[in-house]
Amino acid sequence: MTDTDGDRQVTRQSADEVRQLTYEDRDPGPHPTTGLLVDSYGRRIKNLRISVTDKCNFRCVYCMPAEGLPWLPRADILTFEEIARLSRVAVELGIEQIRLTGGEPLVRRDLPTLVAMLSEIPGLRSLSLTTNGILLTRQARALAEAGLTRINVSLDSLDRERFAQLTRRDALAQVLAGLDAIAAYPQVRPVKINAVAMRGFTEPEVLDFARLARRTGYSVRWIEFMPLDADQIWRKEDILTGAEIKAIIEEEFGPLVPIKGSDPSETARRYTFSDGVGEVGFINPVSEPFCSQCDRIRLTADGQLRTCLFAHNETDLRAVLRSHADDEQLALAIRAAVWHKELKHHIGDTRFRRTARSMSMIGG
Ligand code: 5AD
Ligand code: SF4
Repeated sequence: MTDTDGDRQVTRQSADEVRQLTYEDRDPGPHPTTGLLVDSYGRRIKNLRISVTDKCNFRCVYCMPAEGLPWLPRADILTFEEIARLSRVAVELGIEQIRLTGGEPLVRRDLPTLVAMLSEIPGLRSLSLTTNGILLTRQARALAEAGLTRINVSLDSLDRERFAQLTRRDALAQVLAGLDAIAAYPQVRPVKINAVAMRGFTEPEVLDFARLARRTGYSVRWIEFMPLDADQIWRKEDILTGAEIKAIIEEEFGPLVPIKGSDPSETARRYTFSDGVGEVGFINPVSEPFCSQCDRIRLTADGQLRTCLFAHNETDLRAVLRSHADDEQLALAIRAAVWHKELKHHIGDTRFRRTARSMSMIGG
């Protein structure tokens, strides 16, 4: 590309930036005070992800530094009662699904007690957990009996050494045992495996994961690597797209068959094999952003509501919870935050800026 072209490109990018600025910094108008939760772009918000702790017993290279992070003080973390109150109000506003995340949610003491409290909320249709699985064997029964309805286990390698290299913990056997332990409870379905896809790491095991999906019935989903790692190792070149992984699978197994999802806000593109045995999925936030269908909001362990993974603003719901505000005022605070939900992430744009929080401090 010549210098002149370069100049032209700069002009083009600034025009683009201006357009984005005027679009997103537009006045969204007053938020509605009644009705179901909706944002100013018309997206209905149905899915709440709650981080119950920022602590983790793994140190995945795409998430945490080897030495860990400065953990939140205990007093800053929402109590189970605070989480349950907020969840109840959110469900009244139209939240249908709640997912508990971390850090690693199972390091929070007595997590099944929270699951039991949330499972009693009328109108909640799904209560799930995203875990690294290392503590699952011990807690599977209590979680299932408390009313957990779905589970996602993060698992990036089926090879002991590569697993240890990635998570910085030699724990593959415990995670696999944890998967089997929770799968023994048929009320917890589906059982999903999440693998973060990284170029140069993921490729050699794609077929092993596909075979695992066929053998076990666990739904395996690859998630494109996003710039949410505390060490800031993320580079655009490290993204291995869902399309590339799909091609690797199809070369061995033949064309995958799309599974028609009933929910358009579903993040994963799901497929089965030609014989109908096994399910794999691709979550492609970078190569095929699904922001326009996004129905998610997130609550951090310290009670900050985030309306986008990549948000630069948060709403301090802990302050509202710990004030004398009644449920109606809490509902208004949630509505106002949701109304201002971001249009989209800007990964790949000139405008992209990393957030101060990494994945473990947000909750996936
Ligand atoms: N990019 C994509 N996914 C990530 N996760 C953690 N960090 C990243 C990242 N940088 C995933 C975890 C887990 C979920 C909570 O988020 O593997 O499955
Ligand atoms: Fe822990 Fe999950 Fe982050 Fe890995 S990705 S370090 S398991 S919070």
